[in-house]
Amino acid sequence: MDKMAVIGGVALKGEVKASGAKNSALPLIFSTLLCEGTHQLKNVPNLMDIGSANRLMESLGCKVDFANGELTIDVPQQLETLAHYDQVRKMRASILVLGPLLARFGKAKVSLPGGCAIGARPIGFHLDALEKMGAKIKVEGGYVIAECEKLKGSKIEFPFASVGGTENIMMAASLAEGVTEIHNAAREPEIEDLANYLKKLGAKVEGAGSSVVKVTGSTQLRASQHSVIPDRIEVGTLVAAGAMTGGQVKVLDCRPQDLGAFLEALKKIGFQITTTEDSIEVCCGQDLRPLDIVTEPHPGFPTDLQAQMMALLTQVDGTSHISETVFENRFMHISELARLGAHIEVDGNTATIHGSQAPLLGAPVMATDLRASACLVLAGLVAQGETIVNRIYHLDRGYEKLEDKLSKLGANIRRIKNEG
Ligand code: EPZ
Repeated sequence: MDKMAVIGGVALKGEVKASGAKNSALPLIFSTLLCEGTHQLKNVPNLMDIGSANRLMESLGCKVDFANGELTIDVPQQLETLAHYDQVRKMRASILVLGPLLARFGKAKVSLPGGCAIGARPIGFHLDALEKMGAKIKVEGGYVIAECEKLKGSKIEFPFASVGGTENIMMAASLAEGVTEIHNAAREPEIEDLANYLKKLGAKVEGAGSSVVKVTGSTQLRASQHSVIPDRIEVGTLVAAGAMTGGQVKVLDCRPQDLGAFLEALKKIGFQITTTEDSIEVCCGQDLRPLDIVTEPHPGFPTDLQAQMMALLTQVDGTSHISETVFENRFMHISELARLGAHIEVDGNTATIHGSQAPLLGAPVMATDLRASACLVLAGLVAQGETIVNRIYHLDRGYEKLEDKLSKLGANIRRIKNEG
């Protein structure tokens, strides 16, 4: 397993370009199952999760060609409708094939994704909504087995603004009979990106980005092309790196409007943030003040930037608090930050960060999940001496060449490849 070696103390400076959004590319890839033909996606990041999604698409019978950020998917008229455990267990978002396969073929057998490090991550909201639309669903032998004559448009009310649930139902509704209204829909930018592609395919989608999304099913969808929006979580991670190292970093090819709550938090702490239509620059942290943060569905503070913000707050004198309300077990980076000398207490879903200017001290740490691994790399950028982040396959799931991007900004970081 590869490791990352980081020697802290360098103030990052310069410009860096963001990659395409993992959490938009994944639903976009699976949405191509809705109609046969040649679909073309651009600005697709080269990540392990994208590779897993492409392998799953091939197992269903699609032809996939991926090079230089351009993904061409040839979807045939007939498809396999079984998504095997071996494929799904590698990447939970694979559950997003359920909606499209069921809507198009009237049947689908998809392995339950299983939980992951950050939580149980059940899919009951997805299944309840599909049943409301007329599907017969049973869970047997670790698989969701779904059948329907023809999905019917319905009024769906999500108990929680689930991103994956909203995406699965938007895709299913694109081929359902009539109108589907999704209430308490997720409002993430990736939802809007998916809606834009569904409209290009020929579906009628209104209200994406708001908490009520209306989809009118179509009988005639046709393949199209689309460019994936920038990855707001990667952008936030790079901005946090510039801020916490006391540097000056400008991230290009990004969308500041996708990071409102995160940028507001940085300004409240005391950083200078300058934005243009497609760039964010951070610098000049002065008189940094501690801050209390609560993670929420978009447009609230993103749970996917919680760990990275925690690393930053260890560098801010005083007591800050972070409450994690989206996932039930997303604090595993805390015990690893403690190995670097951070002083953080946990009480239920709230972490109390006793920050200080005293530097962290480099040490070997272990990544436990995707955003925790980013947090530990960031902490290594400010820790005295060398930090070794183990198990960075977690990082490779969601960050494209992060070490190259950080090196370009002056960081002293290198990947130790494990030949084993
Ligand atoms: C998406 O996961 C993202 N993944 C996650 O990013 C992100 O953290 C999450 O949305 C929240 O923003 C992708 O887009 C591929 P949810 P998803 O359904 O769709 C509960 C990363 O780091 N829930 O909004 O799985 C669930 O357990 C990843 O890039 C149910 O209880 O998230 C969780 O507590 C991590 N029943 C909460 O809702 C359901 O049927 C939010 O889940 C569905 C969800």
